[in-house]
Amino acid sequence: MAEVRNKRVVLRNAPSGPLKESDFEIVVGSSKLEVGEGSGAVLLKNLYLSCDPYQLSLLTTPGSAVPGLGVGKVVSSSHPGFQKGDLVWGMTSWEEYSLIADPQSLIKIEHVDMPLSFYTGLLGMPGLTAYAGFFQVGSPKKGETVYISAASGAVGQLVGQLAKLHGCYVVGSAGSREKVDLLKEKFGFDDAFNYKEEPDLDAALKRCLPNGIDIYFENVGGRMLDAVLPNMNLRGRIAVCGLISQYILDRPEGICNLMYLVRSRIRMEGFVWADYYDLYPKFLETVIPHIKEGKIVYVEDYAEGLESGPVALIGLFHGRNVGKQVVVVSRE
Ligand SMILES: NC(=O)c1ccc[n+]([C@@H]2O[C@H](COP(=O)([O-])OP(=O)(O)OC[C@H]3O[C@@H](n4cnc5c(N)ncnc54)[C@H](OP(=O)(O)O)[C@@H]3O)[C@@H](O)[C@H]2O)c1
Repeated sequence: MAEVRNKRVVLRNAPSGPLKESDFEIVVGSSKLEVGEGSGAVLLKNLYLSCDPYQLSLLTTPGSAVPGLGVGKVVSSSHPGFQKGDLVWGMTSWEEYSLIADPQSLIKIEHVDMPLSFYTGLLGMPGLTAYAGFFQVGSPKKGETVYISAASGAVGQLVGQLAKLHGCYVVGSAGSREKVDLLKEKFGFDDAFNYKEEPDLDAALKRCLPNGIDIYFENVGGRMLDAVLPNMNLRGRIAVCGLISQYILDRPEGICNLMYLVRSRIRMEGFVWADYYDLYPKFLETVIPHIKEGKIVYVEDYAEGLESGPVALIGLFHGRNVGKQVVVVSRE
């Protein structure tokens, strides 16, 4: 049976505290190019790998390749649902070739006319997160005000564009001038600010959202959430997507302004994208025409080659990515 080289990004140690490049190593091995008959498995050639904040919680098994979502091409299949040449996205590992023992969770890519890398972001998990979080959890109405933190990232840039298409007034924050320009000029946000340059977040929110916030799409937590709470309107909704500012702290920060949940009758609800998996076909039906008409655009940040994966993943926690962070393993 033919074998090929299989380069892998392996976890050297389970990280404690902030991720470091030394937590990872590149290991070169080999992989058989065919799966065993009757095994039900699929062998994938990984093309694009996704860097996502939640991966931090998966980095627990030293010696194993980093787990994560990605886009791949089926090289060999003994599963009736997949054939050689199929393009798929789903859970894979940071290596050139991955044996997927239970391919049930892989999703076949039907719209191959879209850029394949989009299935790590806009048309994949972050896209469905934005769609479900905004529409299902945020319950938006036309004319409402929406505020999004980490707004230029994989999830946030789509939330803002969906909110604009829905007729909302949309404000975002991000951590650099370049990102703020993107929000206003490329994604069509009504206003945006660089939270790192604002000495007073409450004042920044009042400046950009003088009529208060109806929906807060929460990506960061910590002092941002504390500043948002007093600025929420009566019966506002907070869709809690993530709290990235807390992920690498030894001890999460406390929130002081929770009394505003009561005073302003705010509904604050956490959600996980997988709970809304049933919406995926409807999501594609909604978003793909908007992409084709140029009404939704998407910015990606490519890290070239598997070796660049660790630095790219670490960068998420320091705001180094501009747009969706993708690792390009192979373009075909
Ligand atoms: N609930 C779900 O199912 C689900 C699914 C996907 C993602 N999420 C969550 O959604 C959020 C955004 O994820 P994403 O994939 O779109 O990531 P992303 O925005 O593409 O990248 C992470 C961004 O977070 C910002 N950030 C990092 N550290 C920060 C800090 N200490 N304070 C404030 N901002 C910080 C940085 O942007 P700046 O330069 O703007 O600071 C960074 O670029 C994360 O909290 C993630 O965990 C949840």
